[in-house]
Amino acid sequence: MDGEYRSVREVQSSEFDGREAFVRGWIHRTRSSNKYVFIVLRDSTGIIQCVGSREDIPDLFDIAKELLVESSVRLKGKVKKDDRAPGGYELHMTGIEVVHAAERFPITKDQSEEFLRDNKHLWIRSRRMNAILKVRSTVTGAIHSFFRERGYHEFTPPIFTPNACEGGSTLFEVKYYDSTIFLTQSWQLYAEAAIFSLERIYDVSPTFRAERSKTSRHLSEFWMAEMEAAWIGYLDAVRIAQDEVKHILGRVLNENMEDLELLGAEPERLRKSLDVEWPVITYTEALDILKEKCNMDVEWGKDLRTIEEERLMENFSTPVTVIQYPKEVMAFYKPVEEGADAPGPVAKCFDMLAPGGYGEIIGGSERDMDIGSLKAALEREGESVENYDWYLDLRRYGSVQHSGYGLGVERLIAWICKLDNIKDAIPFPRTLNRVRP
Ligand code: 4AD
Ligand code: MG
Repeated sequence: MDGEYRSVREVQSSEFDGREAFVRGWIHRTRSSNKYVFIVLRDSTGIIQCVGSREDIPDLFDIAKELLVESSVRLKGKVKKDDRAPGGYELHMTGIEVVHAAERFPITKDQSEEFLRDNKHLWIRSRRMNAILKVRSTVTGAIHSFFRERGYHEFTPPIFTPNACEGGSTLFEVKYYDSTIFLTQSWQLYAEAAIFSLERIYDVSPTFRAERSKTSRHLSEFWMAEMEAAWIGYLDAVRIAQDEVKHILGRVLNENMEDLELLGAEPERLRKSLDVEWPVITYTEALDILKEKCNMDVEWGKDLRTIEEERLMENFSTPVTVIQYPKEVMAFYKPVEEGADAPGPVAKCFDMLAPGGYGEIIGGSERDMDIGSLKAALEREGESVENYDWYLDLRRYGSVQHSGYGLGVERLIAWICKLDNIKDAIPFPRTLNRVRP
């Protein structure tokens, strides 16, 4: 069928009202009577109801009636305003070309989440996944624009690495020719090398962690958006992180309102959070809040667990940044904050927690510049110090104060889209129990 094909979104406009248009896509739903066939056509931009009568498409009426969901078709017809139709317009078909008649689609209504995830290669066509993936694209695009507009360079790290960054227990081992190596847990150690050349850098790249627990917030493969900058302290990094997340929210609210509505994501809650300052509290203050407001006693020195983060965040409606966690439970590279008002040594570090039970979306810190304390901390973690010799070199040649953080892209998307499970924030999730499809 020859003609200039338009997107479903494009033809649903007053400009096309009463005009002939060509559209193409997949059959989302179909029903028919003796005289009419109704096809809801789906393309990447939306859905439109298309109506054909036996009179208007005499040769094709019976073929159209038999078409199964997900068949690909090209349609020609006249656009007509109709307030009852989704999108406000209908297409009155005058021509139909079957591109590929689908077999019976395995996904029907009311299937379990596990079934849908087993069929993610097909479920990815759903309106829900379509909306999530559009938000995801806006989120990563906004991360790039945020940093580029501020003069940061994109710096991409290696994925195969000989080192742990966040502790050996979650490393994935990979056979590497005749030896064993790991998949990256964070770009950080390489970013710390690169700031001596580029000063301000960022990236969005895949990250791997062998997370042995089944939770709704952990993936084995996820995307982390990280930044690292010379000449800044961790509190400067906190401000950048807040600005970055606000920038991303602003973009999504601008570009994805329909997607958020379709997902039932309550975009108002996001918009409201843009108008206010986001709290920054210390770990010690967080324990006080847990004790006073949540009736929860956490021993000073223990890392916050999921349940404690959740209860803490019940007191807030915007993201909260918790700073100065106990040095003891922090990764080796986080330096001590001298003179802090706390019962024990704390680190120059922070986590940003999202409200609504979405947990830690960002983790960051200043980086220790002292070779002695870095070595001691590595030994405490059971790492071989020689293995980190190249990293320690960064403290030998013109070391400067620097800080950075990593944002969990799927955690952020789960919060923005109000998803029950982080597995839906990524097209093909990898977890303890899932590596297919
Ligand atoms: O807090 P994390 O472990 O921090 C780092 O890796 C630092 N080296 C980053 C840096 O300073 N450049 O991880 C950062 C964020 C977490 O806050 C969380 O949002 C996300 O990454 N994250 C995960 N997301 C999904 N699945 C997992 N298994 C995750 N582990 C961490
Ligand atoms: Mg963390």
